[in-house]
Amino acid sequence: MTQLSELTAGTPKRQSPASSPLEVVASQLRWEAEGVVSLQLRSRTGERLPRWEPGAHVDLILPTGIERQYSLCGPVDDPSCYQLGVRRERTSRGGSEYVHAFLRPGQPLLLKGPRSNFGFRRAGSYLFIAGGIGITPILPMVRQAQSWGADWQLLYGGHTADSMPFLEELREYGPRVRVFPADTVGRIPLTEVVAQVRPELEIFACGPESLISALNEATAHWPAGSVHVERFKSRPRVRSEDTPFEVVCAASGRTVEVPAGRSILNALEEAGIRSAASCRSGLCGSCDTAVLDGVPDHRDEILSESDRAAGDRMFICVSRARTPRLVLDL
Ligand code: FES
Repeated sequence: MTQLSELTAGTPKRQSPASSPLEVVASQLRWEAEGVVSLQLRSRTGERLPRWEPGAHVDLILPTGIERQYSLCGPVDDPSCYQLGVRRERTSRGGSEYVHAFLRPGQPLLLKGPRSNFGFRRAGSYLFIAGGIGITPILPMVRQAQSWGADWQLLYGGHTADSMPFLEELREYGPRVRVFPADTVGRIPLTEVVAQVRPELEIFACGPESLISALNEATAHWPAGSVHVERFKSRPRVRSEDTPFEVVCAASGRTVEVPAGRSILNALEEAGIRSAASCRSGLCGSCDTAVLDGVPDHRDEILSESDRAAGDRMFICVSRARTPRLVLDL
């Protein structure tokens, strides 16, 4: 989504991805800030693009075969075009580098989605928090909150003002938007702004790990379901030792052994059983699978604590089993 996500609370509204990739063309590339371009995509055949909700992302498949997730940041009510914001990453593994260096208008691309893990919904009021390119999923939420006449505020941080995309549009909202370029204004005063719990207020945030961890810590006293965050990358974590288990695919009745050190997704693929997947890191939601029996060991960055406790779905690219056997709706 930008690059992707964890919902720390709240139940994500599941949005079905398109069954096969859409053929699109890059119609416009525009410089938005230092190191950031926006990219417009249109259907190759001129068809309307699937509907999406604020916070949604797509999986973009580049001509090199690389697949990356980016948040949709254009107008939610324009079915003729999707807009993405792409920051050139210094440590690019080929995705943002390709978009910045090689992608040109008219070039055909493939796209999967849109899909939303954010679960943006109506609330009494909103506090939006964005760090850098994390503004991309937040921008459509801001527009939506404004069109609903909701009470909202955005705190937007970045290294420098020049590196922060979409500032011009955001300035139109006046004092609802507070901008924090770290070099001149300093960092977002997170602890201060969330010190007091405000009933009816929901927080939606996207940004680098440092921002999201600080927000999670600062909002530990907030009610479950009021803070929704999206991460760019999976957190490094100490994982319980992997143990082998078996997966039963309910539809075909086939049983597949999942050894230690191999994901369910990989084990299924090696057995010739195909399943939807994109990021393969527990971030994008493509491999969302219903659990019919057994207890999952959740290792994704998407499900909230209550979703995890329900145990009825899992992301098979990273999550494993706490029981010797899982029955999945595959
Ligand atoms: S969550 Fe992205 S492929 Fe599994």
